[in-house]
Amino acid sequence: MKTFENYSLLNNNTFGIDVQANYFIEYDSVEELQQLLRSDLLRENKMFHIGGGSNLLFINDYQGVILHSKIGGVEAVEGTRTKVVLRVGAGVVWDDFVAYCCTKNYGGVENLSGIPGEVGAAPVQNIGAYGVEAKEVISKVECVRVDNGEECTFTAAQCRFGYRDSVFKRDWKGQYIVTAVYFQLTKNGVPNVNYGSLAEEIKKYPEVTIANVRDAVLAIRHRKLPEPKVLGNAGSFFMNPVVDAGKFKELQGKWPSIPFYEAGKQFKVPAGWLIEQCGWKGKSVGKVAVHGSQALVLINKGGANGLDIINLSDSIRQSVRDKFGIDLVPEVNIIFG
Ligand code: EPU
Repeated sequence: MKTFENYSLLNNNTFGIDVQANYFIEYDSVEELQQLLRSDLLRENKMFHIGGGSNLLFINDYQGVILHSKIGGVEAVEGTRTKVVLRVGAGVVWDDFVAYCCTKNYGGVENLSGIPGEVGAAPVQNIGAYGVEAKEVISKVECVRVDNGEECTFTAAQCRFGYRDSVFKRDWKGQYIVTAVYFQLTKNGVPNVNYGSLAEEIKKYPEVTIANVRDAVLAIRHRKLPEPKVLGNAGSFFMNPVVDAGKFKELQGKWPSIPFYEAGKQFKVPAGWLIEQCGWKGKSVGKVAVHGSQALVLINKGGANGLDIINLSDSIRQSVRDKFGIDLVPEVNIIFG
């Protein structure tokens, strides 16, 4: 376990916001986490748990303890001729895990290649990309209870996954820390390449293999999404809004080319399209900007603070409200400190 005082979080958030935490602690095992949760330091201070810091926006210094998991390990715990279940430590870098699966030809997570962050965040956020969500492959989640350090395991059904959503973000917010995730993957499965831009990209490859899908996804991401080490960002800043059939009909009447995805009886509309229609794509405001290749991504051009980003987000939300009557909801977790 490592403890740091008055710690700069600059390298722990992909937005590149320069804030400090009173304490930053990295633990290596469930036992160390339990010991921490029962310590006076954690009883006397507020606490926030981070992963790769790729979905966070810090507004102020954090007056408390930031925890970070270094629990590693990728272990096959079950296997048949067609399936394998891997138990993966929460501190494993997400894309290292995906790369490992692709090398082994285990199918299910190749569309989620290149997503920044760590495995522990995958079930909390139900990460998703290119037609696949983590909930399709997660079978179980191991956690520790924040109030008493007890270990517990939840099934996928108990996690109540939704679009970028789970019970860990709602009813159980702040109550559990994920320590390991079980993924059920296929051996010799057929990759899903139905998502529009992936279906196009994969045509450049001689065959649809897991390794080629990974390469195709990485190529699309590389074109559309800025590299956080070069331009601070947290991926999609907003969620794609889901509207009912009546509202969608009204939108389609006015803007016949509006892209959409059916979501049960509702319709999901790309927030990037709405933002672009409002004229924000590629626009700079001081030290922050809307990315020129994907309007859903807000970027720190260098030296911005959390409020600069929030002000830009508020202006965008106002434009989208005025033009389309839709309230965009940030996907990024905003931490006021
Ligand atoms: N579009 C525009 N202008 C833009 C951006 C998008 O018109 O500037 C329209 C295009 O019609 C495009 C459609 O929106 O066809 C969808 O765009 P894209 O495929 O880039 O996906 P997205 O809906 O904008 C979502 C996820 C991304 C994920 C991609 C690919 C959310 C909030 N975002 O974005 O996830 O990589 O799909 O599956 O659901 C993230 O969560 O941080 C993230 C990057």
